[in-house]
Amino acid sequence: MKTITVKASQSYDVMIGSGLLNDAGKYISDVLKSRRTVIVSDDNVYPLYGEKLKNSLESVDFDVKEFVFPHGEQSKSHETLLNLYGFLASQNITRSDSVIALGGGVTGDLTGFAAASFLRGIDYVQIPTSLLAQIDSSVGGKTAVDIPAGKNLVGAFKQPRLVLADTDTLSTLPDTFFDDGMGEAVKYGMIWSSELFELIAGGNIKDHLEEMIVKCIDIKREVVETDEFDKGLRMILNFGHTLGHSIEKTQSFCGLSHGKAVAVGMYLMTRAAEKHGIITENISDRLKKCLEVNNLPYSVDIPAETLFRNSVNDKKRFSDDISVIICRTIGKADIVKMPIEDYKKLVTE
Ligand SMILES: NC(=O)c1ccc[n+]([C@@H]2O[C@H](COP(=O)([O-])OP(=O)(O)OC[C@H]3O[C@@H](n4cnc5c(N)ncnc54)[C@H](O)[C@@H]3O)[C@@H](O)[C@H]2O)c1
Repeated sequence: MKTITVKASQSYDVMIGSGLLNDAGKYISDVLKSRRTVIVSDDNVYPLYGEKLKNSLESVDFDVKEFVFPHGEQSKSHETLLNLYGFLASQNITRSDSVIALGGGVTGDLTGFAAASFLRGIDYVQIPTSLLAQIDSSVGGKTAVDIPAGKNLVGAFKQPRLVLADTDTLSTLPDTFFDDGMGEAVKYGMIWSSELFELIAGGNIKDHLEEMIVKCIDIKREVVETDEFDKGLRMILNFGHTLGHSIEKTQSFCGLSHGKAVAVGMYLMTRAAEKHGIITENISDRLKKCLEVNNLPYSVDIPAETLFRNSVNDKKRFSDDISVIICRTIGKADIVKMPIEDYKKLVTE
């Protein structure tokens, strides 16, 4: 078991290891004063781990209720959020009580936003159960729900009081979601650590899972500690996302899933930057091999013009310039601001 302390506006521990859920009650009781809480989870995850968490909390005298919603991104909505607010109110949850997110990134983002806004803010704990949530979304305090105009458009920064990443929960995660999380893990290697990249590129990542998760979280910690509110450095976490979002949008969010779209986005951007002389080292071939051994795609059947068009509406566009994240070498990312015209040439020529 490993503990990483995130020193943000509110400091908290991220514990990573096998079997953490068994003692979750003890760890949570160490950071929360009130013994009243609501577990928020989806209908895939709660039947697998809900009772175990509830028992552990009750063993240290918590009064526990649960709010379970249908799994999937479509539940990261105002409708679910309003239902959750209503449930919290019906249970007389006060400002000193808490909520616990048990699940993937959808559960974490939804619960975190409810915690940021209900009664103007209550405590919450993250218990991420998907790879993506363990290495990325549960740490850093970005919370949100989707609205019809776009994903994550309504949200808040709200750091959790504790993150418990029990690696045993990944044993039940369907392969396709595991692969999605690997897309983000490759991203961490590309933007920050060639050592992590090599670990992932070596294949057999399931033999090194805890090591990889710890390394990813530690990178996220460093980025968040430097730029908690996403004004500068934190943008490098968007490597591969501008084209990735464009792919998801072009396919009406019914094609490649997020992590896989990001994988393609990272590769296309790296190859384009090489072709245009922005990168002088040949790293796209190494990236491609790394994606392949981790069951991730690197190409998509969408015309470059369309990819460009659907990416400039992205929220990273400011006036006539766009900030593009480019890795000139493996393990280091730069935020490159360029005129939209240059960006168009980069993507389409
Ligand atoms: N807040 C952030 O910083 C941040 C960062 C990246 C992504 N996100 C958000 O994260 C979300 C995606 O996260 P996700 O991929 O975890 O999605 P998710 O929460 O929908 O989980 C994926 C699927 O796996 C299931 N699942 C989760 N854990 C399981 C387990 N242990 N066993 C069996 N099934 C399990 C879920 O029920 C769901 O069907 C998106 O909404 C995205 O916007 C947020």
